[in-house]
Amino acid sequence: MNATQEQLNRLLSGATPSASELASLLKAQGKARDLIYTAADDLRRKTMGDAVYLRGIIEFSNVCKNNCWYCGIRCDNDNVARYRMATGEIVETAKNAKLWGCGTVVLQSGEDTYFTADILCGLLRRIKDETGLAVTLSVGVRTRGELAQMKAAGCDRYLLRFETTSNALFSAIHPDESFEHRVQCLTDLRDLGYQVGSGFMIGLPGSTLEMIAHDILFATRLKLDMIGCGPFLSHPDTPLAEKPLIEDRSVYYKTIALLRLLNPTAHIPATTAFDALEPDGRNLVLTRGANVFMPNVTPGKYRRLYQLYPNKPCVDEDGAACALCVRGRLASLGREIGAGPGHSVREP
Ligand code: SAM
Ligand code: FES
Repeated sequence: MNATQEQLNRLLSGATPSASELASLLKAQGKARDLIYTAADDLRRKTMGDAVYLRGIIEFSNVCKNNCWYCGIRCDNDNVARYRMATGEIVETAKNAKLWGCGTVVLQSGEDTYFTADILCGLLRRIKDETGLAVTLSVGVRTRGELAQMKAAGCDRYLLRFETTSNALFSAIHPDESFEHRVQCLTDLRDLGYQVGSGFMIGLPGSTLEMIAHDILFATRLKLDMIGCGPFLSHPDTPLAEKPLIEDRSVYYKTIALLRLLNPTAHIPATTAFDALEPDGRNLVLTRGANVFMPNVTPGKYRRLYQLYPNKPCVDEDGAACALCVRGRLASLGREIGAGPGHSVREP
């Protein structure tokens, strides 16, 4: 048996690898790399089945008080026209998402202080009452009190990436936040009974394969219900403009595959940024460990204004087009749309 297969068998038996072992798998090429992809796809089929759950993402505000160095909607970027969707418009969009086959809506925004916990609670109650959909919030760091209030209003899940486990890198690129604070927020979410999603950007400037390995191990230790990761893509209007992609593009996909191997029952989305990396990026991730797809259901007129990174796909489409497109993609992969909300299947 070759060395990669032996390493994969150890992972599949539940052993925790060292960071250097993971880094060596991230370097795999040719047949060894394909073994990693196949093992992740086989495990995904066994533990999660062929259903792909659709989580419709509504980018409801691009107003942000923060200045994260990577992000195209950071507050210092004056080239962005800012918008906020009205509550009624967000609820109508959620209804459309339901019609288009989504079992969940993900409400995402910048860190917009206009949307207080009270306002978000009103919105959550209306979406739950009028659609019955599962709701994920992705609105940045909030206090434990606010998170408790939003859970009581019916919020099912929360998505907050830790972005990187390197404290030095985290502080360098987040002038307004600390790593400890983000992790505290993730702990609060878990205590309060949310299904918790987190993850990191793959290939932030200055990161090494060992650092990515540490990120994979940290995401695994958090026992997340959902692990969302995607490539870092440099935006021209940010301090990280012109920072290159990882030369070996397969590192992005191997990261997802290794996350699957270490987290057999986590939901893992094929994140939008993979389609900005290459046109069928999300399809490839679905065959390398992912089991969730997040079609953009934001009304077309706002999409160009929510460009976290360049080449974001679907900015000229509308929700109906994205819903049709996802059906075609899944059919071409022999996968079906998951019925119902696709809640966490992780053991508590
Ligand atoms: N404000 C909320 C937060 O920070 O959690 C949610 C919105 S934020 C824009 C969503 C995610 O976009 C971030 O967690 C980050 O990982 C990702 N993102 C932002 N800029 C990016 C870039 N240039 N390349 C890839 N991903 C990026
Ligand atoms: Fe606020 Fe990106 S800096 S959403």
